[in-house]
Amino acid sequence: MTELERQQHDHLDALMQAYDEALAVHGVDGVLLFSGRPSRHFGDDQYASFSAYGHFVHWTGQTPLTDSWLLVRPGEPPTLYLHAPADFWHLPARLPDAPWTARFTIEPRDTPDPPALPPGRFAVLGDVSSAVARHLDAEANPPGLVAALDELRVRKSAYEVSCLREANRRAMDGHRTAREAFDDGGAELDIQLAYLGAVRQRESDMPYSNIVGINAHGGVLHYQHYDPVAPALKRSLLLDAGLRYRGYSADITRTWAGSDAVPEFQPLLAGVTALQQRLIADLAPGVSYVALHQRMHEGLAALLVEQRLIDASTEAVLESGLTRAFCPHGLGHLLGVQVHDVGGRVSAAGEPLAPPADDPALRLTRELEAGMVVTMEPGLYVIPMLLEPHRHRPEVRWERVERLAEHGGIRIEDNVLVTADGPDNLTPQEA
Ligand code: GLY
Ligand code: MN
Ligand code: MN
Repeated sequence: MTELERQQHDHLDALMQAYDEALAVHGVDGVLLFSGRPSRHFGDDQYASFSAYGHFVHWTGQTPLTDSWLLVRPGEPPTLYLHAPADFWHLPARLPDAPWTARFTIEPRDTPDPPALPPGRFAVLGDVSSAVARHLDAEANPPGLVAALDELRVRKSAYEVSCLREANRRAMDGHRTAREAFDDGGAELDIQLAYLGAVRQRESDMPYSNIVGINAHGGVLHYQHYDPVAPALKRSLLLDAGLRYRGYSADITRTWAGSDAVPEFQPLLAGVTALQQRLIADLAPGVSYVALHQRMHEGLAALLVEQRLIDASTEAVLESGLTRAFCPHGLGHLLGVQVHDVGGRVSAAGEPLAPPADDPALRLTRELEAGMVVTMEPGLYVIPMLLEPHRHRPEVRWERVERLAEHGGIRIEDNVLVTADGPDNLTPQEA
């Protein structure tokens, strides 16, 4: 058995025990996790891409399994009802030949319907209809139990950290190749294809749609296209590209200056990179992520002043709200089997923690603990619709801002494990 497989055994042992406790606290005899079902396009016979429900993946790592069910009961090996009908149109689902499968009772089945449950009180979790829950005589998605199981995903096991580290290592190979494609004059589509080729993962298996933004497209936060034509001028590239490894996600962003970048762009890029490294150094158990997010805004204000995009004091820039126009997203989020992992806006005691009124997009509002894996992704963008309400401000050097607009924006994103000994950056730093 490899070291990773040994870690996976420990992961499953811990999960078993934690589920036993959560089920007892919430007064159920077991929980049935539904992997989910891909949605079919209306009036069509084609399906959307699919990823299984996070709690199902937490046990199995299997994101492609559709119509499958996992029954977890205290004192029993979990039963995986694997939807694998005989089919000559498709290859029936198969599990890998790996030691973890021996920890489960596997029941291959033809039907996508839920299995019959033994006598007792059960919850069913996942994208199930009320008719299915009624038929099972099980409670669908009870919020207290769902929150308790979400909480089990917040602190990562050694196995999960290994998977996240490997996902990062592989994704960074893709980033290196993608950068070469950009330097060689590639269009967004060429860069995306170069990335996918390097990491050898199909697009629909990625944890999110890669963002490949050349020039102004880098300022569209979740830019969703891949332009097949390279622009005449090469100002910049923002690449936010991930990878999945055994169900676990990498979420990495790099920004590069192109050969036609204006001279002001490179110092800004260096400034955001340095800010990101300073913020990573501050990661530690007990630190408020909201306070770190605020520190990002302080750093951005200082950078905007230093780079003479705004002629004002750092305090005045913060007061004006301009940093939120230049960076409307949060500093980062929890990362795991989902790219935006669960449990980020609730305290360890289960109290909801709403984001600050000025930061509605902040996905992580809790205090950091050892074992959390977070993204750290400060950004600085020229987004015309957000800057427009500030047009009247004479302290903004609008001619300099406009020269940067064709570069879209800057984001630098790493994935970092919080430990008692300090931050452990899972993202290789060479690219
Ligand atoms: N890739 C999406 C994000 O950075 O949150
Ligand atoms: Mn990202
Ligand atoms: Mn992210």
